[in-house]
Amino acid sequence: MRKPVIVAIDGPAGAGKSTIARSVARKLGFTYIDSGAMFRAIALWAMRANVDLDDLHKLEQLAREARIEFDGDSRVLLNGEDVTAEIREPEVSKAASKVSIAPGVRRALREEQRRIGSLQPVVMEGRDIGTVVFPDADVKIYLDADPEIRAGRRAQETGAAVSEIAREMEERDQRDRTRSEAPLTQAPDAEYIDSTELSPEEVEEAILRVVRARTSNGQGH
Ligand code: DC
Repeated sequence: MRKPVIVAIDGPAGAGKSTIARSVARKLGFTYIDSGAMFRAIALWAMRANVDLDDLHKLEQLAREARIEFDGDSRVLLNGEDVTAEIREPEVSKAASKVSIAPGVRRALREEQRRIGSLQPVVMEGRDIGTVVFPDADVKIYLDADPEIRAGRRAQETGAAVSEIAREMEERDQRDRTRSEAPLTQAPDAEYIDSTELSPEEVEEAILRVVRARTSNGQGH
């Protein structure tokens, strides 16, 4: 049997990955996986358990023990509890960015991401999906946008001040891009899409075109 198709979408925060990846997955009939939500869930658990975010060993342990499930394409469960809203809190965003530096956490989540991708066709979005998790992904997209636009979109989603978001986002982007383990970077064979001046529909269409070109017409297997 052939391996299920993997569509990897990477890029910085606020580039529109989640919205687009979810709608592309619906169109294709693939499972949508938000890998950032997995790092967020581990961060939430660590915060609740008062685990020091510098304790790499303990963080890895949590990542190995955590049961993270996706209920449909929008709800996230941590050890059976619906944490969909809580993992979007600003403190969790910050903690997730720190937790994602831990090599052991990345290793544990990578294994889980690969397992999920081996079972069904997926659209998986994150920072290192096309570079590290699935270097052989059938389709790789690097979705980008101007920093001001990304901050503006996030501000609209969360209701926070744009200036505050822009500052926090810059800090997180910097950490995501410069960490030694699986930093955010474009895979050489990824299609670069700048969403600054595009509507969500236009970005979706651009991605679907790449999917059609690189798979036998978007078939999952
Ligand atoms: O996409 P997001 O903002 O929900 O991701 C939360 C954090 O997790 C972000 O700081 C980067 C990190 N992350 C990562 O390191 N690798 C991924 N594949 C996905 C997210």
